[in-house]
Amino acid sequence: MNNAEIQELQAAAIQEVGAAPDAASLESARVKYLGRNGRVQDVLLALRQAPVEQKRELGRLANEFKTSVQAAVDARKDALQASASVASFDVTLPGRWHGLGTRHPVTQIIDRAVEIFGQLGFTVADGPDIETTFHNFDALNTPANHPSRDPKDTFYLDDTHLLRTHTSPVQIRVMQSRKPPVRIIAPGRCYRRDTTDATHSANFHQVEGLYVDRKVSLADLKGDLTYFARQMMGPDVKIRFRPHFFPFTEPSVEYDFSCHVCHGAGCRVCKHSGWIEISGAGMVDPHVFKAVGYDSSEVTGYAFGMGVERIAMILLGVPDIRMLYDNDVRFLGQF
Ligand code: DAH
Repeated sequence: MNNAEIQELQAAAIQEVGAAPDAASLESARVKYLGRNGRVQDVLLALRQAPVEQKRELGRLANEFKTSVQAAVDARKDALQASASVASFDVTLPGRWHGLGTRHPVTQIIDRAVEIFGQLGFTVADGPDIETTFHNFDALNTPANHPSRDPKDTFYLDDTHLLRTHTSPVQIRVMQSRKPPVRIIAPGRCYRRDTTDATHSANFHQVEGLYVDRKVSLADLKGDLTYFARQMMGPDVKIRFRPHFFPFTEPSVEYDFSCHVCHGAGCRVCKHSGWIEISGAGMVDPHVFKAVGYDSSEVTGYAFGMGVERIAMILLGVPDIRMLYDNDVRFLGQF
């Protein structure tokens, strides 16, 4: 074989390989050209028989023959495989599951609270995280010397602005913007200068509630909170009020739910008391109505606040509030 014949053979081989319609004919084309008894042997024979001065050039051509034909075989094999996998794609197979995220436990409790109070006719109200001292304290009848105003406990931005320490200022904003009757809950983020530990976080959530109308009473408060407690914690949860003081309610109470785990018998969850402290509530103080221009001889109202993390921890058995904020999906995905 001379040089031109080798190059012709190479071109023919590449052409044939490239046109192979399936894997079997590709393999027989490969054997035909590159196999042990294939045409490559003619090339190698020519190389062996060539006079010394031609060996160099023939050697180069022989090498090129082998590599280029092999490359054509590989390329054709890839192309055939790719079209085979398209042809065998089964559109009736179920798709691959990529996994959905889960709602954060705090969000789950808020959503549930919104749903439950929604059944009682409450709509959701919202307010800013950056509040004025007027909305956060003054209008809520909190005197200038009240300890909750201390910069040791509250994040002030300037003399008249702060990060709200509770969701109660939303009560003020709602009453300023509409006439009674009012029936709202306000879930949201709150901020306090607390040192973080297993049960405290400088950043936490509350759900505020406010119901103002003619003849709203403490009995309405107890009934509605009982309904909430049973929907949220379980069907036979009881509620109890303990006398307390808040500047914005009179009378004021703290309220507890009977332990949903031991039903009052005493267990680790309720620290053997049978009761779980939830938060504060009471009848809206007439000073608060005055601050927003409501006539306290016409209307009465109840208000309550509750700590969302606290409910999440009790309900879901989370031992440390910090776990809620570590953003570890292995933890969060469990709920
Ligand atoms: N704002 C109170 C707190 O953060 C909770 C609270 C108590 C809210 C009594 C109320 C209420 O609406 O009436 O501790």
